[in-house]
Amino acid sequence: MKARLLTALTLAMWAGLTTAALAQAPSPQAASRSVIRSGKLEANTVRPASAQPPATAQPSATRYAQAKQAAARQPAAQPSRAAAQHGAAQHGAAQHAMPQRNRAFNIPRERRWIKLQYWLRGQKIPSKPDVSVNIEDPFLLKLGAQLFDMYCANCHGAEGRGDGPRAAGLQPRPRDLASGMFKFRSTPSGEPPTPQDLFQTISGGLRGTGMLPFADLPEMQRWALVAHVTKLAGTAPGEFDLGPVEIPPQPKDLSKPARIARGRQIYTKLGCDKCHGAEGRGDGPSANEQVDAYGVPMAPRDFVIQPLKRGEYIEDVYRTIVTGLDGTPMPGYLESASSEEIWDLIAFVRSLPSEGFNKVSPLEIARARELVNIQQGRGQHAVVSGCGCGSGG
Ligand code: HEC
Ligand code: HEC
Repeated sequence: MKARLLTALTLAMWAGLTTAALAQAPSPQAASRSVIRSGKLEANTVRPASAQPPATAQPSATRYAQAKQAAARQPAAQPSRAAAQHGAAQHGAAQHAMPQRNRAFNIPRERRWIKLQYWLRGQKIPSKPDVSVNIEDPFLLKLGAQLFDMYCANCHGAEGRGDGPRAAGLQPRPRDLASGMFKFRSTPSGEPPTPQDLFQTISGGLRGTGMLPFADLPEMQRWALVAHVTKLAGTAPGEFDLGPVEIPPQPKDLSKPARIARGRQIYTKLGCDKCHGAEGRGDGPSANEQVDAYGVPMAPRDFVIQPLKRGEYIEDVYRTIVTGLDGTPMPGYLESASSEEIWDLIAFVRSLPSEGFNKVSPLEIARARELVNIQQGRGQHAVVSGCGCGSGG
């Protein structure tokens, strides 16, 4: 009985991903951004802006130069005709440098599928860069613009305004990247994400949404995309008031009953249950009133049957709770909960009988495989459903 309900709900989620249409969203100016003032941050520590890791990290210049050469040699898998036309309109001659479709193109597809399985299971997708990059490097910006046209514009729109041809069919809608409003940051509410945050989103995707992982793209190409997204968002890299929230070492007793019991109390004390429901089913008394920054109704996560968008890694759940998800009703608890309380909350949320936490139903995998097959059959990139091909049929 329960299994059947879950199956139905999972199906509904997949269907929702592709079919639900949304009313025209009002402008992002309607967004309310909470501002965190410094000096009021007893509960959790934030690295002061002066202690920021620079947007340009430090390793060897030679490796960077080598990686650049490699990235220039193989900018990306060949885009579809539609994407190429679209891209050519955007970038003129730059597109002619793209290699022709060849057999090598089939290999990454397979790798992409393997990565997708990791992703569905919540396994770690590598997001630690090997090489350090300067995301204001003109070379990266140019490459990033090309890649964005091929992989992202179909959903996010050519200018990143969230208005690509596929956008209307997606729920949630692809983000208007030019709004500069990002959900998944390591920085406090209201601050821009770090380049590493964007790298992680692009590499690992956002589970349960149309935002699929691009972990199989060479790292340099993912950095190029970070550079382009940062440019679209108009946020200068390293421009933070406070910078990333520090995550204290993870306690060892997260599965212990005492910690979970404390977590349940704090969950109620802080009012998580108002939205997420007493048992984490996303059905709290205020759940139905929640809207995002565009005024579109938005359900609080159901921790039992929905995967966490950001993935199940403890430190990422910590980031979500502390920094909040900008543009959604999910607040950040930087000032209102101590780090011990955040750990308690995580212990409680993880203890819920979850289908989403590190588990993926066989149905979800089957559906994902089907999606990949459909894309392969059309000669599209596996997993990358927004390569531009959809608009061309
Ligand atoms: C005012 C309503 C509201 C309150 C209060 C609230 N949340 Fe949320 N929360 C949301 C919404 C809405 C989302 C979904 C955002 C999205 O999907 O983009 C969410 C998402 C989440 C996620 C999922 C992030 C992901 O990766 O998908 C976690 C974890 C979470 N909340 C934990 C908590 C905890 C713990 C508390 C209490 C300390 C809390 N929330 C309080 C509305 C709320
Ligand atoms: C199939 C459609 C689709 C494609 C293709 C796609 N995205 Fe997304 N993207 C989405 C959706 C949907 C969201 C919003 C998810 C949400 O709000 O929960 C999103 C959100 C994002 C975000 C915002 C994350 C945050 O913290 O709020 C970034 C950045 C992003 N995408 C970058 C990219 C880049 C770069 C590419 C190309 C490499 C890309 N996307 C391709 C659908 C897509």
